[in-house]
Amino acid sequence: MTIVSGAKMIQTAREHGYAIGAFNTNNLEWTQAILRAAQAQQAPVLVAVSMGAIKYMGGAKVVADLVRNLDYGLNITVPVAIHLDHGSFEMAKEAMAAGFTSIMFDGSDLPIAENILKTKELVSWAHGRGIAIEAEVGSIGGEEDGIVGAGEIASIDEAKAMTAVGVDYLAAGIGNIHGQYPANWTGLKLAHLQALGAAIDEVRGRPMPIVLHGGSGVPDEQIQEAITYGVAKVNVNTEAQLAFHQAVRDFVLSDEDLVGKNYDPRKFLKPGVDAIQAAVEERIAVFGSAGKVN
Ligand code: 13P
Repeated sequence: MTIVSGAKMIQTAREHGYAIGAFNTNNLEWTQAILRAAQAQQAPVLVAVSMGAIKYMGGAKVVADLVRNLDYGLNITVPVAIHLDHGSFEMAKEAMAAGFTSIMFDGSDLPIAENILKTKELVSWAHGRGIAIEAEVGSIGGEEDGIVGAGEIASIDEAKAMTAVGVDYLAAGIGNIHGQYPANWTGLKLAHLQALGAAIDEVRGRPMPIVLHGGSGVPDEQIQEAITYGVAKVNVNTEAQLAFHQAVRDFVLSDEDLVGKNYDPRKFLKPGVDAIQAAVEERIAVFGSAGKVN
């Protein structure tokens, strides 16, 4: 069993200058593809799940047990964290009880004082149970799970205050968005990220890991530069969804027989699952976490 807290793997990544991928899952096949990709690349990984995907899959316990059982059943030997992505306060507690090992509490729509207070409460809960906590300052734009945000650049003072409550890693709005980037997107605010990273390292007294949301579609050089300023966890969802959709679609449309007769989902989903695995492996290589089993 290689299920671990996200804290050590992400702290180690931060201190050694690479990032770990947090890949969103939606179902059994998705989870298999992520785990197989991590194993093939010998990379630590976070299997992430949104509240919408938790509902779709039948509850937090279903997700936690699925990841645990696949970890065992597929003989996964790399470290794996089970991560709640953009959780509410209530879902954060439910996911901890269900066996998640990394929790993102997203209080970015609350006034900052309340976001910090609620995060602080969750930190003491989580740390007592060996679970890692991620919080968010500023906000991520774009659309995920039907929730649309304008995006707000994180204030350095708010990032410092959130770091001071003891979160293990911090998501910051730096011009990143969920979903596909529009053609007129001007890129990550890397100078701001650098300043923010230096300020929170000082508060923490050691390197503080930063989380880059909206990892799909960000040019590789920007991701790699962001890693040098403290990013140690990169979230990816859309890229895997696009790869899955395209591969299944191409496969089904490629042959009359498939449209008409091949109704076995294990056959027509396979190209999609393989495409997710390939996309995840490719991202792991860019993030520098291949071979970094720690
Ligand atoms: P993308 O869908 O843009 O990759 O973002 C994923 C994410 O940040 C999940 O929290």
